[in-house]
Amino acid sequence: MPEGIGAGVLPRRAGGLRGGFAAWRNRLIAAPRFQSWASRFPLTRGIARAEGEALFDLVAGFVHSQVLLALVELDLPAELLETPRPAEALAVRHGVPEQRMAALLDAGVALKLLERLRDGRYRTAQRGAALLGVPGLCEMIRHHGAFYRDMGDPLAVLRGEADTELARFWPYVFGAAGAVDPEITARYSALMEESQGLVAEETLRIVSLRGLRRLMDVGGGTGAFLRAAGRAAPALDLQLFDLPPVVEVARRRFAEEGFAMGAGSRVTLCAGSFRDDPLPPGADAISLVRVLYDHEDATVTTLLGKAFAALPPGGRLIVSEPMAGGARPQRAADVYFAFYCMAMRTGRVRSQSEIARRLAAAGFTGIATPATRRPFLTSVVTAEKPSAAPAGKR
Ligand SMILES: C[S@@+](CC[C@H](N)C(=O)[O-])C[C@H]1O[C@@H](n2cnc3c(N)ncnc32)[C@H](O)[C@@H]1O
Repeated sequence: MPEGIGAGVLPRRAGGLRGGFAAWRNRLIAAPRFQSWASRFPLTRGIARAEGEALFDLVAGFVHSQVLLALVELDLPAELLETPRPAEALAVRHGVPEQRMAALLDAGVALKLLERLRDGRYRTAQRGAALLGVPGLCEMIRHHGAFYRDMGDPLAVLRGEADTELARFWPYVFGAAGAVDPEITARYSALMEESQGLVAEETLRIVSLRGLRRLMDVGGGTGAFLRAAGRAAPALDLQLFDLPPVVEVARRRFAEEGFAMGAGSRVTLCAGSFRDDPLPPGADAISLVRVLYDHEDATVTTLLGKAFAALPPGGRLIVSEPMAGGARPQRAADVYFAFYCMAMRTGRVRSQSEIARRLAAAGFTGIATPATRRPFLTSVVTAEKPSAAPAGKR
């Protein structure tokens, strides 16, 4: 280490040996001279380079997302999936000057979404093809315009000062009255349904439905999770509870997918608001899929209390949604979903352990926090209503 870099820099603050070392290390790394030295010294230059790239990725992340949006808006991953095309042809077709189209395509190559062939034509790369294989992902990228405009002023979002666009995009979270416009209901329901397939797949991979008679999906949207559960467990009765306009969309979707409805059938649809109404009894399991994170703590407490009341002794509760990492923050939930919820101005991403604590406070026992394979899609907490419920919790 060259003289003057790090030499003579001793830990200034207490906080144990480890805390003192971390403070010393941070002061060292924050020194421009150390950075310059580390990028040249053979034993540190690899780390310095990797750290530098990771840091620049954070700096440039917003631009990466906007390049992705431009590619999706022009539908280029689909257009170039099988047929490679030159920049000139794509420029004419999409009304973008040729040089700029080439810049967009090269940016797509750099992000590994596209690949450039030897003859200069462009084709969709593996990552770009995977983008098309995730149901609802392109729609999600398109609707990010509203989120990113809100995130243009992250401090206003943090301080709760911003009148955010996302809050207007998801009006139902403010109560049943927010979902009366059928066009808005159809728009958000379609977005949720498209992305539900993978969430259901991930949830049902670790949650066993064996032995259950009737599953009630509360805030079940258009019923995609219930239909997936129904396909996984053909003897299971399916009950959906959601706001009245959403239930109407669900009715159509169940019929389109060939599920019989009406007296004596497997499917029961219940319209209501879990803020104002009790949950109907009769199910021996209740699922809450991507519901709690939309709502503030008081609503969550009320909802869990109502779920507890509606279940029979021994009944099961399944919570599935993106969850924060708790003591180990994670990129997907602690960055993306945390700020998404903040911009919605109502809910909050909670960790598995916080949800587990809330379930225990509502009276549930046997609480489990199994690991999902793709926590960026969803995490799961399950619980049971005890067979002999404690007094006052019934
Ligand atoms: C984020 S969506 C999730 C939908 C579905 N569970 C999924 O994962 O695709 C939240 C759902 O909760 C419903 N919801 C919101 N507030 C509600 C309330 N007060 N009572 C009943 N359902 C409500 C919404 O209509 C919406 O369908």
